[in-house]
Amino acid sequence: MGRHLGELGALRARVQAGRSAMWANPAYAPAEDPVARADLDRACADWAMLAPLLARVFPDLDSTGGRIGSDLIVAPQGAFGEVPGRVLIKCDHALPVAGSIKARGGLFEVFMQAVAQARAAGILGPAEPVSALAQARDFFAKRTIAVGSTGNLGLSVGIAARALGYRCVVHMSADAKPWKVARLRNLGVEVVLHSADYSSAVAGARDATARDPDAYFVDDESSELLFRGYSAAAAELAAQLAAMRIAVGPENPLCLYLPCGIGGAPGGIAYGARGAYGAHAHSFFVEPQQSASALCRMAFDVPSVAALGLSNQTEADGMAVATLSPLVARRMRDRLAGVCTLGDADMLRWVAVGAAHRMRFEPSATAGFAGPLHLMTSSAGAAFRARHMPGVAADNITHVVWATGGRFVPDAAHQAYLKTAAALPTGLDLPEEIAP
Ligand SMILES: Cc1ncc(COP(=O)(O)O)c(C=O)c1O
Repeated sequence: MGRHLGELGALRARVQAGRSAMWANPAYAPAEDPVARADLDRACADWAMLAPLLARVFPDLDSTGGRIGSDLIVAPQGAFGEVPGRVLIKCDHALPVAGSIKARGGLFEVFMQAVAQARAAGILGPAEPVSALAQARDFFAKRTIAVGSTGNLGLSVGIAARALGYRCVVHMSADAKPWKVARLRNLGVEVVLHSADYSSAVAGARDATARDPDAYFVDDESSELLFRGYSAAAAELAAQLAAMRIAVGPENPLCLYLPCGIGGAPGGIAYGARGAYGAHAHSFFVEPQQSASALCRMAFDVPSVAALGLSNQTEADGMAVATLSPLVARRMRDRLAGVCTLGDADMLRWVAVGAAHRMRFEPSATAGFAGPLHLMTSSAGAAFRARHMPGVAADNITHVVWATGGRFVPDAAHQAYLKTAAALPTGLDLPEEIAP
């Protein structure tokens, strides 16, 4: 206990000094998880139910039968930092329709809600195929979907809602990139710009929606539906690993590195991975140094990054969130392996590395690349491996870095990232920065 408190004190000082850190969750209890397994099966069944409708309204998904998914590829050797073991990239940066991981939650919630509303109103019979809703624009036009977002959830909810014919209002935080605002307005989405941060945008959206009986609010801070939508990505990953003949088990653990903002996307996927692989998948959230909301909540039990004097300022707009979702904090209490942080400079460097390998990333998308470096080179990582993977050879670990967004970043914005990256000193801040 004393040793644990001492380590926590040292970690706190490190975080407050704005340095990168890894926290291994002392409450983490890897185990079979039948509840998460059942929830994962339900999520997959719901996505399968929606697929014919998704295929009808999104031409991009016609060839996949309405399945939204991304590739799993082998990372170019050493390009993102050198670690033992196999490093794979889950390419949600190229996800069709909405161009980011938030599509997995946003599309799911809007379409599930559309089916529920249509059934409740009697315009969709219990046995009728949901694809009929592609022609229900008059019905949806009388209803509103609202959401608060740093950008990408707004994009995915806006795209989904407008595809069905809903009126849609997106409340954006000050961190939102202008091109995301412009893209939404072009779709006919009403964008309300808030001068404050993400939490204020969500609160504004929640209040405005509560006054309108025909409006439905997608609540990024506490939505079960978003969480379920994200979780199904774990089943997709499991199928891809199986197709690549990559075994996951006691001798071959799987480590996932998931960029975290409010926590819904990484939490949902971590939960799904636990359902799919039980004790053999270890999920880490990865966050910007100044927006370490999961670290603050899970390690220090403080509600906001402000309590540790952090600024919540980061180039990684999708992760510029000061407070972790309470739902995610609860679900992840003993299911989260740990949290790692990194600085903006390495995210920008990895945007450039991605570009050199024909991958278009936004800065948030690259945070996961810090994960294997933390786990394999830091003292906290070594302690985690000794405790949870005793006797496992480092080469036998499969690292999956979840790349989360970038497909729609316009050329000018992407070039600006590359220019900033080119002006940085060469090399990485990690792993030197985390060396004991
Ligand atoms: C590109 C990208 N990565 C990661 C995240 C983090 O997801 P969450 O906020 O659900 O934790 C976001 C959130 O918007 C994002 O846009």
